Amino acid sequence: MEKLVIRGENKLEGIVKISGAKNAALKIMAASILSDDKVMLKNVPRIKDVFVMAKVLEELGMKVNFNKSRGLIIAPASSLKHEAPYELVNQMRASIIVLGPLLAKVGKACVALPGGCNIGLRKIDFHLRGLEKMGAKIRLEHGFIEAEADVLKGTEIDFNFPSVGATENILMAAVKAKGTTIIKNAAREPEILDLIYFLKQMGAKIKGAGTSTLIIEGVDKLHSSQEYSVVSDRIEAGTFMVAAALTGGNIVIQNAPTNFMGMIIDKLTEAGITIDETSEGLRIFRKGEIKAIDISTLPYPGFPTDMQAQMMILLSIAKGASIVTENVFENRFMLVDELNRMGADIYIQDPHAVIKGVDGFIGSPVRATDLRGGAALVLAGLAAKGVTEIMDVFHIDRGYENLEAKLKSLGADIARIDEQESLKF
Ligand code: EPZ
Repeated sequence: MEKLVIRGENKLEGIVKISGAKNAALKIMAASILSDDKVMLKNVPRIKDVFVMAKVLEELGMKVNFNKSRGLIIAPASSLKHEAPYELVNQMRASIIVLGPLLAKVGKACVALPGGCNIGLRKIDFHLRGLEKMGAKIRLEHGFIEAEADVLKGTEIDFNFPSVGATENILMAAVKAKGTTIIKNAAREPEILDLIYFLKQMGAKIKGAGTSTLIIEGVDKLHSSQEYSVVSDRIEAGTFMVAAALTGGNIVIQNAPTNFMGMIIDKLTEAGITIDETSEGLRIFRKGEIKAIDISTLPYPGFPTDMQAQMMILLSIAKGASIVTENVFENRFMLVDELNRMGADIYIQDPHAVIKGVDGFIGSPVRATDLRGGAALVLAGLAAKGVTEIMDVFHIDRGYENLEAKLKSLGADIARIDEQESLKF
């Protein structure tokens, strides 16, 4: 097992390039199941979750090759299998997203039930109910979802919560269904927009892209004729913006999908951070102190829950008290205990975190609890006085490509070593 060791207080300066979005790449890889021919993707991040999704596709009989220029070539299976095994789904619950495309392509799927994960229950009732409404027969047996559908029929599906994964699963089932499917209260995250663009490039008939009502007319064939470049990662970009603000640095972020970052930019600006669009990219710095602000996480275009942990770090050293309300997941404040060990002053009144600004963090040994919580602890280490060690770094590797190399290039004192080793800076 590895850990990250960070000696804090270096101001981050320089230019950093954002990678492709994990939460778009994983779904577009799953959508390649629908294609009758080879899929060529660009800007796919080299992260653990992408490697797991590649293994899921190979389990189905598809061929997945990473080429040198960060591209991905996915070849169709000669005869597509339909089982996503437990050991892979258990590593990455997003594997559930193969359910819709498998039912659309071969009329059956056997996918291990993804457990909850540490940020919440992660229920999938909207996915299953929607697919049943389209004519799928679904049984839950021995921890697996056994689904069959001779024909998927277009119908109207209305989500009582705009679930990202459920929207994507139903969307991918509907593109080859008989007739028209209308999804109401669909999620509108930019990564869903990217999936829609990819499906339309393959010949899918989808109206309402970017809105909360999607109208999909089923077609017989889907062909991937040209290369598709995955949208860049707004959450990675937001994470680096907070890193610059925390350390009092001055960085330029290239490839940031600014047109999808409105609320992130608004909230950072409200907290006293300067964000300028320049010819080189997005320049981030702060002139004065960090201001205390309140944040409520919401489905897009509200403030993204995937940026909540990172903002907690910034607000922990703001002038005054802030309230962060987590409206999307049931248990996304796990990093607070570790953060308080680094000198923060936060208490939880679910679903609120009350953050009283302190002067700074003290470097400490901490343990990552989940992907975004782990990334947030790295941010705290960058700002902390002294050395911070972050254990269970595998959580972070799921969603950030070359994180320590990118931070090092901006002047951070950071190294990855074996958990048993010690490092003297
Ligand atoms: C996606 O998860 C993202 N993951 C998450 O990013 C992100 O936080 C989330 O969307 C919200 O934006 C991927 O795209 C791989 P949801 P997903 O279905 O699809 C409840 C990260 O850090 N719900 O919108 O699982 C559910 O319990 C990850 O990159 C049901 O009740 O999110 C949750 O409380 C973390 N029934 C809420 O909706 C359902 O059938 C939001 O879930 C489905 C969801």
